Amino acid sequence: MAALTVRALGLEFRNPVVLASGPAGFGLELAAAFDLSRIGALTTKTVTLEPRRGNPQPRLVDAPCGVLNSIGLQNPGCDAFEVDLLPQIRAFPTRRIVSIAGRSPEEVAALASRLAGEQGVDVLEVNLSCPNVHGETVADNPETVRAFVRGARSASTRPILAKLPGEGKYLDLVEAALSAGADGVALINALRGMRIHTETGLPLLDRQVGGLCGPAIFPIALHRVFEARKAFPETVIVGTGGVSDLRGALEMLFAGADLIGFGFAVMADPTRVFRLAQELDEWLTKRGIADVDQLRGASHRGGIHVR
Ligand code: FUM
Repeated sequence: MAALTVRALGLEFRNPVVLASGPAGFGLELAAAFDLSRIGALTTKTVTLEPRRGNPQPRLVDAPCGVLNSIGLQNPGCDAFEVDLLPQIRAFPTRRIVSIAGRSPEEVAALASRLAGEQGVDVLEVNLSCPNVHGETVADNPETVRAFVRGARSASTRPILAKLPGEGKYLDLVEAALSAGADGVALINALRGMRIHTETGLPLLDRQVGGLCGPAIFPIALHRVFEARKAFPETVIVGTGGVSDLRGALEMLFAGADLIGFGFAVMADPTRVFRLAQELDEWLTKRGIADVDQLRGASHRGGIHVR
């Protein structure tokens, strides 16, 4: 057996497989059907201070090799999260990353402060890149990123990940997040895209734009992770965006990801995601590689040398 443990953010993760924020919801349905000790961490659906109803239907539209989503941060709000959900999430036999978002740095600070004393919140992920809420959280410039991350940092000593977009000057956004006190980044969120109804000529989504996720964005996500690792050799990176199988997971590790976030893949076939750590173990063992650490960032060091 190979060693799969990942040490990152001052914590130990059983393996690099992370359920990304969104498709896993708050993990309750998955916990009833799967053994959560087979993954390294679960990221919750994004929590906001107040409950959010989300965007009008349709919220999911087909796209080549993926899907466009327009959920709009639907969630029950922080009160209900703490009272109804967190007691169950706390009992999950895996690391828990709680995703948060707000309309302002002050709102993010308030959320981080509310969750600061809660058991069962291992990491805070500040969602700065949701493409589905108007003029709020899409961090298109470094100053916004800096302000929101500072808000969270000022209110919590928990490890903080900044969930960033893969668009625009994304390396400047990574720099802004880290200089404001983030302990790492999750790269990338869904990419903004649209589809149009051919009978009406009108956009299929109410907000016109949605977030493209799934295998369609994998090569883009991989490139962003590769570039971020090159520019920030020491930071923690959760590589996410269209990873759907062992090959994608290996590529993310080679590119420099510490942990690998699975989003769309959880919707498509959760069974496969829950098998991934075992597949990774078998792949490593077959090649005589003792520790998954040996793969991380290998593309920047001349590749791997297997027997
Ligand atoms: O709820 C949402 O629409 C979240 C989307 C995202 O952060 O990608």
